[in-house]
Amino acid sequence: MVSSTAGLVLSCNAAIAWEAGKPLVIQTVEVAPPQAMEVRIKIKYTSLCHTDLYFWEAKGQTPLFPRIFGHEAAGVVESVGDGVEDLRVGDHVLPVFTGECGECAHCKSEESNMCDLLRINTDRGVMLSDGNSRFSIDGKPINHFLGTSTFSEYTVVHSGCLAKINPLAPLDKVCILSCGVSTGLGATLNVAKPKKGSSIAIFGLGAVGLAAAEGARIAGASRIIGVDFNPKRFEEAKKFGVNEFVNPKEHDKPVQQVLTEMTNGGVDRSVECTGNIDAMIAAFECVHDGWGVAVLVGVPNKDDVFMTKPVNLLNERTLKGTFFGNYKPRTDLPSVVDMYMDKKLEVEKFITHRVPFSDINKAFEYMLRGEGLRCIISMED
Ligand SMILES: NC(=O)c1ccc[n+]([C@@H]2O[C@H](COP(=O)([O-])OP(=O)(O)OC[C@H]3O[C@@H](n4cnc5c(N)ncnc54)[C@H](O)[C@@H]3O)[C@@H](O)[C@H]2O)c1
Ligand SMILES: [Zn+2]
Ligand SMILES: [Zn+2]
Repeated sequence: MVSSTAGLVLSCNAAIAWEAGKPLVIQTVEVAPPQAMEVRIKIKYTSLCHTDLYFWEAKGQTPLFPRIFGHEAAGVVESVGDGVEDLRVGDHVLPVFTGECGECAHCKSEESNMCDLLRINTDRGVMLSDGNSRFSIDGKPINHFLGTSTFSEYTVVHSGCLAKINPLAPLDKVCILSCGVSTGLGATLNVAKPKKGSSIAIFGLGAVGLAAAEGARIAGASRIIGVDFNPKRFEEAKKFGVNEFVNPKEHDKPVQQVLTEMTNGGVDRSVECTGNIDAMIAAFECVHDGWGVAVLVGVPNKDDVFMTKPVNLLNERTLKGTFFGNYKPRTDLPSVVDMYMDKKLEVEKFITHRVPFSDINKAFEYMLRGEGLRCIISMED
């Protein structure tokens, strides 16, 4: 099947970020057809992840404007470029900020999802194949973001960054599995791997951190300690199995010391989901010597440096980091969607707000105020 718009330049609405920190402007963009190994998709629902907010604020990140942000979304294939064999018009897909070419050493390794060709690149604003953007306004190119740019009714994505999912899955729910929830869940289940009955500290109780907590609950951890500055998060976090709370602002000693004292020498595991360098260091220093494992998930500012005494490592603590919870997007993401379809994973409790595309700036306001977890932005109404 070929859609009637295949091969044509499409005009549609997109939310353009013209300047750092300024409200997005919804306006008409031209979206070029997909080139070799690319796919053009119609976005149905998208949501806002903190990574979008960081690059939009561009305080500690490389500024690149004008740009179309957005990477957590669900859509339907509109047309495919040459060489795309495994996706067809009408397939339901989740775009992912990191890809899977299937050919490189990373894709062939069971241990890695850091594809050589399609791994996350936050500074690139163009498509890989020809170094050009597929978006333009009056002939002037608009930058892509993370190879996904889902704050547009249509977008062009490399086929290696699209997971084909169960067509029965409701796209207004599973869109959040395209980044935040899978990232947190996988950080715990695939990387931290807490044992049954163990203790774990989760730094940052946004959607990513609470998905990490959900993973800890599924794995059978018994002490799930949530660490956040924002006390509004604590009530919500109880629904995700978090059963103890620490607000670093309420203590006059470093939070790593508070956690070490609470747990008789340190937590068995920790997962950092804040993007704050001090939280990253604390998350490492609060794990127990001999066996503790800390996992970094938050995206740091580009000049941040991780400082700790080497003896903390010598004392048999492990520090790891992960993108996308170590899931391979094309191979593994469909099974995370099936976990939701089989009712093993609850997605609804992460969705606290919904807005039409025309109100996309409200999603930014909620996140800036630390209100709620995920806001679904609907292209359908
Ligand atoms: N590695 C990956 O693959 C990946 C994927 C998605 C998101 N991320 C990153 O994960 C992080 C969380 O994303 P989110 O969408 O859940 O964000 P969010 O804004 O919803 O939540 C972050 C939480 O961290 C808390 N926080 C900030 N600094 C803190 C500190 N020093 N100590 C304790 N709590 C602190 C905030 O109060 C907030 O509740 C971000 O850094 C985001 O960029 C990484
Ligand atoms: Zn994200
Ligand atoms: Zn690869």
